[in-house]
Amino acid sequence: MKDVNILAIETSCDETAAAIVRNGREVIKNEVYSQIDIHKEYGGVVPEIASRNHILKLPHVVGKCGFEGIDAVAVTYGPGLLGALICGVSYAKALAYSMDLPLIAVHHIEGHISANFISHKELEPPFVCLTVSGGHTMLAVVRDYGVYETLGQTRDDAAGEVIDKVSRVLGLPYPGGPNLEKLAENGDRHAYEMPRSFKGEKHLDFSFSGPKTTVINMLHHMDQTGETYKKEDVAASFLYSVVDALADNAFEAVKRTGINKLAVAGGVSANRQLREELKKRADENGCEMYIPELKYCTDNAAMIGSAAYYKYLRGDFAPLDLNAYATLPLGES
Ligand code: KG4
Ligand code: ZN
Repeated sequence: MKDVNILAIETSCDETAAAIVRNGREVIKNEVYSQIDIHKEYGGVVPEIASRNHILKLPHVVGKCGFEGIDAVAVTYGPGLLGALICGVSYAKALAYSMDLPLIAVHHIEGHISANFISHKELEPPFVCLTVSGGHTMLAVVRDYGVYETLGQTRDDAAGEVIDKVSRVLGLPYPGGPNLEKLAENGDRHAYEMPRSFKGEKHLDFSFSGPKTTVINMLHHMDQTGETYKKEDVAASFLYSVVDALADNAFEAVKRTGINKLAVAGGVSANRQLREELKKRADENGCEMYIPELKYCTDNAAMIGSAAYYKYLRGDFAPLDLNAYATLPLGES
């Protein structure tokens, strides 16, 4: 079969990204312009500023990939920051129209899951996937390409969201995740007890607002009473409670489905403590484990190009009046 080259665009949050992916698995170009330095001074992503910078940077980032031999244009159309998504969607529609190429609309989480196809050429569905990002925490079975069965998700905050919030309370600069990871490395994870929701319950949903509130209240109390504490210990105890909850449900899903393949995806899967804990339990359970290379864990367009390939094969193309959606259930197109 002829090679299929897809030009993919991702602008759902604060990364302006474009990539060219061949046959869903081979990354030809991967360009990411991170706006982190711009948002840093505000302590988090400012949606309006993110949109403005996507508009400014898109021509440059996409231009660096080039347009030679492209068979389709793919774009993230949700979920994410609406204004930010619209920048990428409008740009992709204009490109597809002007080059007379098919347009492919990709769900952001489907992209994160598909990052595993890039880093693990042998990985094929079915497998269980734990997706943990700044906006989502989801456990799903990938039955086939594009066929998802949700097993559990967060009932309140996403794991990355609470990691970023606790990092901020601990005085760490944005983005919180990588900084909290470093701080926690020198702490005692058993120093503080964190509440744990849903332990022993039948469903596989998550809740992370408990440990978040515990840390905020605990630090507030200790600051008021003048009690001394080690930030490292707070960071380690909190992070471990999140990691432990994620790992428990992920391996319960593996057990229940009988599918002995666990993939991990999303920005938080870059976390060393999470990787190590999952790897340890995978070895204990005789389970195959897959995590994307670090550069494909956080937001990028290569993962969107990978997901788009399987839609291309199915002829699942989007109309030129495609819209962007801040919320979007996985598996809907
Ligand atoms: O997938 P992603 O890049 O964007 C979303 O789709 O949300 O994920 C971003 C999240 C942020 O919450 C960030 O703090 C977290 O991933 N993150 C990490 C690490 N690197 C990124 N969390 C913990 N440890 C890390 N090393
Ligand atoms: Zn993401």
